[in-house]
Amino acid sequence: MKIVVVGGTGLIGSKLVKKLRERGQEVVAASPTSGVNTLTGEGLADALKGASTAVDVTNSPSWEDAAVLKFFETSTRNLLDYEAAADVQHHVALSVVGTERLLESGFFRAKLAQENLIKASSIPYSIVRATQFFEFVKNIAGVSTEGNIVRLPPALFQPMAAEDVAGAIARIAMGSPVNDTVEIGGPEQFRLDELIRRDLAARKDPREVISDPHARYYGIEVSERALVPNDDARLGETRFEDWLRQATQQVPHLQPA
Ligand SMILES: NC(=O)c1ccc[n+]([C@@H]2O[C@H](COP(=O)([O-])OP(=O)(O)OC[C@H]3O[C@@H](n4cnc5c(N)ncnc54)[C@H](OP(=O)(O)O)[C@@H]3O)[C@@H](O)[C@H]2O)c1
Repeated sequence: MKIVVVGGTGLIGSKLVKKLRERGQEVVAASPTSGVNTLTGEGLADALKGASTAVDVTNSPSWEDAAVLKFFETSTRNLLDYEAAADVQHHVALSVVGTERLLESGFFRAKLAQENLIKASSIPYSIVRATQFFEFVKNIAGVSTEGNIVRLPPALFQPMAAEDVAGAIARIAMGSPVNDTVEIGGPEQFRLDELIRRDLAARKDPREVISDPHARYYGIEVSERALVPNDDARLGETRFEDWLRQATQQVPHLQPA
């Protein structure tokens, strides 16, 4: 089974490529780094030749409203066209839990446009909606910081490890298309402000986290349950505290002999 991972050099893509290879699959990691560009079509025909499945884990280099919409629309259209020409039988794409509840944001309008193009195409598909990655928590603190203050709403939050995201996508990519959306999330629910407070404390980051129901999440107001998955979501195993302990572990200094 040949599987093409488009965005195979990214955070999720690189983990996914490794997992699929460990499970004996023939995998092509496709991205601009390896001469495959979904915006221009460059390299796509060659990469998809003989593939049964294509997984889209690309991300837009810019999250500005117009740029991100252009990225996901153009990239998805091209990918689906080249997949149809190569007779690919399963298109898997990574999207975000709660997308339809977050449409005040240009990024999520772009993700919804991506999902709609996939659903309208003739290629059997599986859309995987994941919650935020643990690795993304730092970024959330960054965009919510003013001076020494991080202002965040106490919305429910159920993030997961990138490793578990890749594991779930690997299983889905090796299975039959569900022609539907599957949700995946972390094993525990937190309040967003509380989790960021824990993350910063573990990193000895002096910023103070203030809980504010009207604080914005990437520029938009989020309701209490906007970011959490449905009850039937498949849950990852890695707990945040375990991941954080590993992520913040100091590499011991080697003593000179
Ligand atoms: N952040 C979160 O918490 C979260 C939660 C749920 C879902 N997601 C979704 O997860 C997906 C992957 O995220 P990530 O963090 O793994 O992304 P990432 O680390 O930023 O990687 C992006 C990948 O896209 C590739 N790419 C960029 N432009 C391309 C183009 N024109 N043609 C082909 N490939 C291109 C990059 O290739 P190069 O390395 O060669 O540039 C890279 O491999 C995104 O769609 C995102 O919406 C994210």
